[in-house]
Amino acid sequence: MSSLDARLQSLFPKPEDVPAAHALRSFNEDGAFLVDGVISHAASRLPVTSPLCLLRDGRPERPLIGEAPHLSTQDALAALDAAARAWNNGRGAWPTMSVAARIERVEAFGQQIRPLRETVARLLMWEIGKTWPDALKEFDRTLEYIHDTVEALKELDRKGSRFEIEKGVVGMVRRAPLGVVLCMGPYNYPLNETFTTLIPALIMGNAAIVKLPRMGLLCHLPLLKAFADCFPAGVVNVLAGDGETISSPFMKSGRVDVLAFIGSSRVGDLLKHQHPKPHRLRSVLGLDAKNPAIVLEDADLDLAARECVRGALSFNGQRCTALKILFVPASRAEALLEKLCAQVEALPVGMPWEEGAFLTPLPETSKPERMAALVEDARRQGARVVNPNGGKTRATFYFPSVVYPVSAAMQLYHVEQFGPIIPVVPYRSLEELYSYFDQSPYGQQASVFGHDPAQIGPLLDGLANQVCRVNLNTQCQRGPDTFPFTGRKDSAEGTLSVSDALRVFSIRSMVAASYDKPSKQLLTDIVTGRSSHFLRTDYIL
Ligand code: G3H
Repeated sequence: MSSLDARLQSLFPKPEDVPAAHALRSFNEDGAFLVDGVISHAASRLPVTSPLCLLRDGRPERPLIGEAPHLSTQDALAALDAAARAWNNGRGAWPTMSVAARIERVEAFGQQIRPLRETVARLLMWEIGKTWPDALKEFDRTLEYIHDTVEALKELDRKGSRFEIEKGVVGMVRRAPLGVVLCMGPYNYPLNETFTTLIPALIMGNAAIVKLPRMGLLCHLPLLKAFADCFPAGVVNVLAGDGETISSPFMKSGRVDVLAFIGSSRVGDLLKHQHPKPHRLRSVLGLDAKNPAIVLEDADLDLAARECVRGALSFNGQRCTALKILFVPASRAEALLEKLCAQVEALPVGMPWEEGAFLTPLPETSKPERMAALVEDARRQGARVVNPNGGKTRATFYFPSVVYPVSAAMQLYHVEQFGPIIPVVPYRSLEELYSYFDQSPYGQQASVFGHDPAQIGPLLDGLANQVCRVNLNTQCQRGPDTFPFTGRKDSAEGTLSVSDALRVFSIRSMVAASYDKPSKQLLTDIVTGRSSHFLRTDYIL
């Protein structure tokens, strides 16, 4: 028995052996949802089980960790009505509130959820198998995002707090909210990625409905009270249930003004097309990706292997920004594979609370089978699993496979595996690389490993027009969140970053008048009398 076999045999503990600090605490939010400022507990619920199996009679089983609300179309439409009332055709208390007051509410929300850090991280860990340090990091990154969003809005507001005079017209231009926003985040960053759309949508004055992801939803339920306490009724509504029962009726109603969706392009496209008035819908979508790493002839292979392993396997490869295919010159393939395999085989396997654990169980029930099927398809077409433990599975755990040589005949060349497989493609000319990019439906990011400016310069020029971020000698990633995060083709629509998100969820609107004496007097009276929140020259420091 290899040491990995032995590790997998002892991976899942008995319930009583879970360290007390990481055991799930009692949870009063089962089935909770928030509509129109009221937290209710759904009569209809779905069990939520954890990928962190526990031993029962010696067999690993997914334990029940909570109950998700399973809402009806009627519940969903009540949430839509509540959001529409809060928006009130732009005349609601929230969309007309001063920017300073909205900032105050968002900051109060951040303060109120801060003490829930460990509660939220524990739920993230149990529901999606994220390691304890990464779950804490997801919470911290979210609070930081809230803080940075507030600062970015202050800056935007300062810039807008002035009159411009052009060709006899005096005007003030500000960014104004758009209406009702439907926010849908993914299961891999259920908190952070939901909040990177929700917070900017709210702070700009929109009303929001959050449809929680199928997995990774429990961590949101302890936050409902803070939403109810800090925002006027109907401004934030949080619910869960089947997409067809909930999201489709929202879209088909035509009453959603912005769709903020992070998930598959299949679902994103479906939702967009359900809206009866496409030109009235603004979409901001973070979709599929299959970011390639291109290793050049002169690359430092130690560095490339290290970055590619981290880039491909952090959170078990379940990141939209993960490196999902590696291209290596055929002449250097064996050398790179050796380094990749050594590093992959050395990755610590463990339950997410174990110190140093890197590879952890996978939340999707069919994921190990899906990974095995992709590897089997590649095998049938002539590839092999290069690392000795590649593909070893126990219950919800799948050990990463390094698969080589991958070619265009294999599914692994084309599909987004979103899991622990590293497909490696040998290439002989840059033309083969270009052909990959040309036929790929994805266009998020790429990584390039090499040092020759004469070769990398022109390569960058081409890649920058195929993807939206080229990473030099480092893995792909979304952060820092102040940088633009977007993609081409089927990878994204719209751009997110701290400041771009404020633009995405708003539109420029202006007040204009002739630059004559009566108009100047009226504008001055409004500003000095502080009778408008839109038309003002004071600003927040
Ligand atoms: O799943 C996609 C995430 O936006 C990736 O973010 O690069 O920080 O892991 P990350």
